[in-house]
Amino acid sequence: MKALVLSGGQGTRLRPMTLGRSKQLIPVANRPVLHYVLQNIADAGIKETIVVIGEDGRQIRDYVGNGARWGLAVTYVQQRKPLGLAHAVLTAREKLGEASFLMYLGDNLLPNGIAQYLRVFQEKRPDALVLVHPVTNPQSFGIAKLVDSRVVEVLEKPTDPPSNLALIGVYFFSPKIHESIARITPSARGELEITDAIQDLLSRGGQVEAERVCGPWHDTGQANDLLAANKTMLLKLEHKIEGHIDPCSTISGPVQISAGTVVVNSRICGPAIIGEDCALYNSFIGPFTAVQKGTRLIDTAVCDSIILAGCRLENVPLLNHSILGENTELTTSPRSQPGWQLLTADHTRLSVPV
Ligand code: TTP
Repeated sequence: MKALVLSGGQGTRLRPMTLGRSKQLIPVANRPVLHYVLQNIADAGIKETIVVIGEDGRQIRDYVGNGARWGLAVTYVQQRKPLGLAHAVLTAREKLGEASFLMYLGDNLLPNGIAQYLRVFQEKRPDALVLVHPVTNPQSFGIAKLVDSRVVEVLEKPTDPPSNLALIGVYFFSPKIHESIARITPSARGELEITDAIQDLLSRGGQVEAERVCGPWHDTGQANDLLAANKTMLLKLEHKIEGHIDPCSTISGPVQISAGTVVVNSRICGPAIIGEDCALYNSFIGPFTAVQKGTRLIDTAVCDSIILAGCRLENVPLLNHSILGENTELTTSPRSQPGWQLLTADHTRLSVPV
């Protein structure tokens, strides 16, 4: 069994953040989404992992390396253009050989792991096993029609959906999928769709099984989903204080504060995580906030947000439900109004005059 992790794509729905950063590397609870993907693969007992990267996959390579950190053996294939999920499989065809494989989208977060679904795939030995999750907007997803646990039809973004069960970003395939991928043609949006390949497999009499995801699942392709994923991961947080908290500050709820961080005359209500070498002065951190290393908050309040490394926020009355790129600088006057919502690229600078 091999794993194929898809970390190409353009991430257009997360611009401007993704103009300078692969979306799989945006942190939730201070760790890139891709970290949780690789950890789940390792926890399931798979070692050989192929990572599909796009034209500029340098950041992904730098972060993942040879995968030893997760106990994985990682190699890479470069997809010349994001021409679809099935195209990514085609790109990795040689490396996949005749092995069965797990295909895992690098922006999908499953906090409860995937080992249990791998076991089902290995016990039932179908031609494919897909994971499904109910969604409220089935018109925006690949949708499966089931009879018991058996998939009888899959449709990409159907106008008249036969169910509300979306295919999520985790699939198990036997090598039979390669014959189907070779038979399909690009869709109206110009992509080789994995749903078309699965439908082809079905039409050739292939057995495709579905498992409902137990517990949360997040596709972190958009800002709201990333913030929801951040919330889910922060809810698992254990309380651990390594930084310095002065006697005028209060900490409540599960909070992690890393070494080298100082908290002065501030209040932190968890769940929240603050990385190394941060400084908080006269500030408030509300629930579901993750702050990466080297950030300074002065006379500032932040809730339900993801703040990347090296940011500086001064006199920000209340930043809520926001994602700030690395080294973002926000400075305003003490009299400005609360309730800011921002999604910034790395090195954004915003100063609001009095
Ligand atoms: P998507 O979210 O479908 O596409 P995207 O990353 O280009 O984002 P957007 O729609 O906002 O522009 O991709 C899901 C995952 O699969 C993601 O980790 C990127 C990866 N991917 C590839 O590796 N190759 C591809 O050709 C495509 C379409 C996606």
